[in-house]
Parts: sequence; structure tokens; C-alpha cells
Amino acid sequence: MITTTAHRAPAVVRVRASAKINLHLAVGDLRPDGYHDLVTVFHAVDLADEVTLQTAERHSVRTVPADGVPVGAKNLAGVAARMLARRSGAGGPVAIEIAKQIPVAGGMAGGSADAAAALVGCAALWGLDIGRGELAEIGAAIGADVPFALTGGTAVGTGRGDRLSPVLARTPLHWVLALADGGLSTPAVFAELDRLRTVSAPPRVGAVTRMLAALASGDPAQVAAVLGNDLQPAAISLQPGLRRTLRAGLSAGALGGVVSGSGPTVALLCADAESAGGVAAELAGSGTCRTVRVASGPAPGARVVGSGSVRH
Ligand code: C5P
Repeated sequence: MITTTAHRAPAVVRVRASAKINLHLAVGDLRPDGYHDLVTVFHAVDLADEVTLQTAERHSVRTVPADGVPVGAKNLAGVAARMLARRSGAGGPVAIEIAKQIPVAGGMAGGSADAAAALVGCAALWGLDIGRGELAEIGAAIGADVPFALTGGTAVGTGRGDRLSPVLARTPLHWVLALADGGLSTPAVFAELDRLRTVSAPPRVGAVTRMLAALASGDPAQVAAVLGNDLQPAAISLQPGLRRTLRAGLSAGALGGVVSGSGPTVALLCADAESAGGVAAELAGSGTCRTVRVASGPAPGARVVGSGSVRH
């Protein structure tokens, strides 16, 4: 049972939630429930959405900028708030405002980050006595990536990607993210992979142990050498320009590159922060992506960064 804590809950809560990259993503066969079994290494980076939650007369979700973000009943932050209210029997309507940095439909789990932020934010707003494990269980019902968005860091995900075990990887990794024009639908990319597998044998990533050893070494060159994503051929099949983005990133000096999750964001791993700055500048001028961002990981999971009794 979820209980409320005795102390007075705040009226406004601000939560930050990080984007993720999949350093390794092995996709199994299609399951009867429409999902695929995964073995993945999630890595949270410091590109984050900031979500402000406030007690209100009725539920609402507003996103800034709003371009492409699902509205109404489809917005995952709103879904998360309503689900937690139902499960806890506590809390009332909330006004949710999302300052969006994570690309929409970009393969970086932006929607899942917002859902995780809403769970953490509502729990604080309503003074719920609820553990991370219980939040993760509710999160997994919203989307496969929500448990990792709560946890952050670097972690191996199995099952649908929602069963997590942490990976010790303290050395920071420096990334350039190439953001594409438009997004890709995650179900469409998984379906394209299923189709490709019926007509050819697209390359499969190797064993996850190679990535775990590379992370343990702390050497970004070793991590770069084993970056791999089974969804990459499917994302490239749907958006062939991604091949040029990857090539441009490598010729700009990145150690390695990979399509992030279902794409179309391309993540380029660099030797250090200085190198990432140079790669970002060159890639921005290459005409192979809409814009670039520099980011580093591992970053924390969804967490409260401010609260108060009135909005400021
Ligand atoms: O869980 P989530 O809503 O993020 O997943 C979106 C879609 O991506 C699923 O409906 C499914 O088509 C696909 N997916 C999958 N296998 C996974 C995760 C997602 O096929 N492990």
C-alpha cells in the first residue's frame, strides 16, 4: 500500500530527467505480445527535459517548444500522473509544464523521461511514501524505457528493456548528438527490422560482455569500437541520410558512432570534451543533420531539483 508522509508537501516541484543512448542494443525475435526481447546497455546523458508540476483545478500538460510532442491523453507525463493517482489513491489534478530539450521521437527516450519526471514529481507533490522500485513498476506499464529514465547512470536492460542491473562505469563519456529533421516511430523501426530479417540477414551486435569490458576499461576508444545497435540497419533503411551523418561524424574526428535506439538521433563518441567541441562544430557545418548537441554521461535519473509553495 502506498501511504503519504506526514510532512507538508510542496505546491510546485521541478524535476530534471535525462535522455538516454543505447551503447549496445541486441534485439531478439518478435514476441506474441508485440514486443521484442532486448539485451541493451543504457547510458544516460546530461541532455535533459525539465518538468514543472503544480497542484491545479484540473489535469493539464503543456510543452515548450510544443513541436511534435503528443498532447492530451497521449502525453506520457500526463499518463504517468493519472496512473500514479489511481495506484496511490492520493493526489489530485496537476498542471504539468515540460521544457523540452530531448529530441521528440529521436530514439533518446524523451517521452519516457517525461513520464519518469512526472512520477517522481507527483510523488513529491503528493507527499507519497513510495520507493524507486514501486515507481519503476508503474513506469514499466507506461513504457519499456521508463524504469531506466528513473534510474539513470549506465545499466544493462533485459526483457523489454525494463529489467535493469547497474553497470559500474564512472569514467565520463563525451558525446556529440546529431539531431535529425523529423523523428522515427519506434514501432515502425522495430517492424522494419522484422521485415529486413525476413528478406536478408542484417548484421547483429556481438555479446554484451564486450561492451561491459570496454566500459570497465574506462577507455573511450574501446567503448567506441564496440558500439552497436541491431535497430541501426532498420533506422537507416527508413532514413537513408543517417549513413551520411555517421560518416560525417567519423571524418570530423569522433572515435565511433551509432544510431541511438530507434533513431534518428546519431550519437558520436569523442575522446574528450575538447574533441567533442571540435566534432560538434564540424558536424554542424556538414549539412548532414538539423542541429548538434554536446552531451556527457553517465547522468542521473529523474530527480527533484527544486520545490516551493508558489510558482516563481
Ligand atoms: O514500451 P514502448 O511504448 O516505449 O514501446 C513502443 C513500441 O516499440 C512497442 O509498442 C513495440 O512496437 C516496440 N518495442 C518492441 N520491443 C521492445 C520495446 C519496444 O518491439 N523491447
